[in-house]
Amino acid sequence: MATSNGTPGLTLVGVGPGDPQWLTVAAVKAIEAATVVAHPVAREGATGMAATIAAPWIAASQRQLPLLFPMVGEAAPRIAAWHAAADALAAQVAAGEAVVLLCEGDASLFASCSYVLLALAERHPACPVRVLPGVTSVAAAAAAGAWPLALQGEGLLIRPTPESAAEFEVLLDWAATSRTTLALLKLGHRWTWVRPLLETRGLLDQALFAQRVGWPEQLLAPAAAVPASEQPYFSLLLIRLGWPAVMP
Ligand SMILES: C[S@@+](CC[C@H](N)C(=O)[O-])C[C@H]1O[C@@H](n2cnc3c(N)ncnc32)[C@H](O)[C@@H]1O
Repeated sequence: MATSNGTPGLTLVGVGPGDPQWLTVAAVKAIEAATVVAHPVAREGATGMAATIAAPWIAASQRQLPLLFPMVGEAAPRIAAWHAAADALAAQVAAGEAVVLLCEGDASLFASCSYVLLALAERHPACPVRVLPGVTSVAAAAAAGAWPLALQGEGLLIRPTPESAAEFEVLLDWAATSRTTLALLKLGHRWTWVRPLLETRGLLDQALFAQRVGWPEQLLAPAAAVPASEQPYFSLLLIRLGWPAVMP
């Protein structure tokens, strides 16, 4: 069931990766029309990334509903958090509230909100839900670096950074033969071994490092310029293995 702006229901809102100016007009309208603004937090009392990004569009009079999504590896606490979030959001909607759930970046790309969406469909199928897309961190990094993501017959693969150098080597070989550009998320601490591997394969000049895109401390740099030390979680890498035959 779909919900329209301002009427009781839940709207998942992609708020983009950093700059508040990157929210869509639809996202801003949905937030302004909401009576309850829900947003993910990693710890009790913490301010979430999505809420910080959308802060200029949230009024002091709007009720805030922080939803706890613990950053842990175990399945049970994460499943419990998704169920609790779905139940809390459905209860607000049943009480007649217009609820937005803010999602960092796009609401469908490696997003906690996606699990809530699936939990809602399972546990509260009558709850009206709609999803508003947001600017992804990948699109924002490409734009900030003036770095074309995909041209002509090229593919584009957005995925988490592999867990090991061996897995990364296989991925690079496949990307080269399949003419696929790679967008690697969750780079963070993996940069300590990703950078040396790129250097060994002569790929440093073909990779763009992007950190906290859209934030005042944004860092956009050729991979060669970033030392092989541990990097913040909000870092990603774009790698192009080759160019199309026909170019300007
Ligand atoms: C759980 S995913 C969320 C992706 C998000 N939903 C999107 O649409 O981009 C988190 C990863 O996205 C990337 N990311 C998100 N925001 C970013 C930013 N502002 N700058 C650089 N990377 C970012 C990082 O690689 C981070 O580890």
